[in-house]
Amino acid sequence: MTNMILNADQPLGTINKNIYGHFAEHLGHCIYGGIYVGEDSPIPNTRGIRHDVIEALRELKVPVLRWPGGCFADEYHWKDGIGPKETRPTMINTHWGGVTENNHFGTHEFMDLCELIDTDPYICGNVGSGTVQEMSEWIEYITFGGRSPMADLRRKNGREEPWRLPFFGVGNESWGCGGHMRPEYYADLYRRYQTYVRQYGTERIYKIACGASDFNYRWTEVLMREAGGLMQGLSLHYYTVPGTWQKKGSATEFGEDEWFTTLQKALVMDELITKHSTIMDIYDPEKRVGLIVDEWGTWYDVMPGTEPGFLRQQNTLRDALVAGLHLNIFHKHCERVQMANLAQMVNVLQAVLLTNEGDLIRTPTYHVLRMFNVHQDAKLLHLGVTSESYVHQGEEIPAVSASASRDHTGAIHISLCNFDPDMDQEITCALRGTEQNTVSGEILTAARINDHNDFDSPDVVAPKTFSGARVVDGVLQLTLPAKSVVVLTIQ
Ligand code: AHR
Repeated sequence: MTNMILNADQPLGTINKNIYGHFAEHLGHCIYGGIYVGEDSPIPNTRGIRHDVIEALRELKVPVLRWPGGCFADEYHWKDGIGPKETRPTMINTHWGGVTENNHFGTHEFMDLCELIDTDPYICGNVGSGTVQEMSEWIEYITFGGRSPMADLRRKNGREEPWRLPFFGVGNESWGCGGHMRPEYYADLYRRYQTYVRQYGTERIYKIACGASDFNYRWTEVLMREAGGLMQGLSLHYYTVPGTWQKKGSATEFGEDEWFTTLQKALVMDELITKHSTIMDIYDPEKRVGLIVDEWGTWYDVMPGTEPGFLRQQNTLRDALVAGLHLNIFHKHCERVQMANLAQMVNVLQAVLLTNEGDLIRTPTYHVLRMFNVHQDAKLLHLGVTSESYVHQGEEIPAVSASASRDHTGAIHISLCNFDPDMDQEITCALRGTEQNTVSGEILTAARINDHNDFDSPDVVAPKTFSGARVVDGVLQLTLPAKSVVVLTIQ
């Protein structure tokens, strides 16, 4: 039995909708083929952007989208991606398969995508191989409304009005692919580059410094100490890799050992956020600086037969559980975590959409993000959980992860994951501070732990109505099926 207590009259903070953010890099078929097919493609599109992708992403309610990388960002020179497409210079995408990038998807196309799917742009600037001037001129090009060399160039390229640019990142993984820097050196570079990220419009640009990966607490410490006062956000990257970086494990061919290890490793996100936040608290007890988890998700061996540098992988019920767990963790830390970006949006890593020529499928991860989006901008509610354990080969993790919020209409939403692949969980939840007692719900599960959707069978893992919960005398009761994700609405 898993027991919970919901204190519906104890809001703990607001779940920033931006924790439901995404990331699209010039990597494999994320942009080209996945999102952008060009205006002359037989695949239905608006100015080159696929209609089926626009429709699926609008349904998902994507609040923010990070672009152009990733590692690609620190090799990207934005001026190569503007103006007539036929005259745009090419470049080698050295990180991702060594393919030739034609720069047909650039600033205008990205901003167009954001407008079409109604999302906020988050652009990551080039510190590793770009200049301060280049970064400064990009900001001027995008956001300056008056007459200036860059604003006039933007007009010449067809855009009269400046765009909104709410979020800007100063470099990516500067400790690795973004320049192999030491934190002291990057902290100084951050101070310098961000100075020229000028404020031209009325909306303040939220500047995000490159943060740590995994357990690199020293990076967070140095950045907060040396540059904390000059940033609004500090990033964190963590990927769930069931095996090692050399042999990560198959996305679809796995048994309970890999299922368990993957979930165990996904849980590490909670520890990481807690520890990085503790360091941030020393320098920023008011929690002014947001922790921006701008890369997270599963990373497996690439799909057999595909280009290793394209990072294409399938997405199973296991990924759905990983997604649900991460979102519940982000909710819990909503005072510090102000944004998170799943890597990556289409055809790369833990993608929400997979495309194959003109076909598109929604992955199990897509469905979880869609089911959970009721938490966007809602008030986190205090939920005490005493979970049964899920024990495997002498190791254990909590069988259940849960979080609760109240939305602007007053409805309460509880999202639940049962990680145990065999055992249902009997759940009781005392509802305190509310008289609401009408429950409805949705469930995502499948017959096997490695079930997934493919182009012949796109709905093997798809949400269904869940009517197995009820409220009796102020107590919510349900049986949470094995290996499932459930979102309940209580009105
Ligand atoms: O998401 C793939 C890559 O992972 C990104 O380009 C990089 O930032 C990270 O190492």
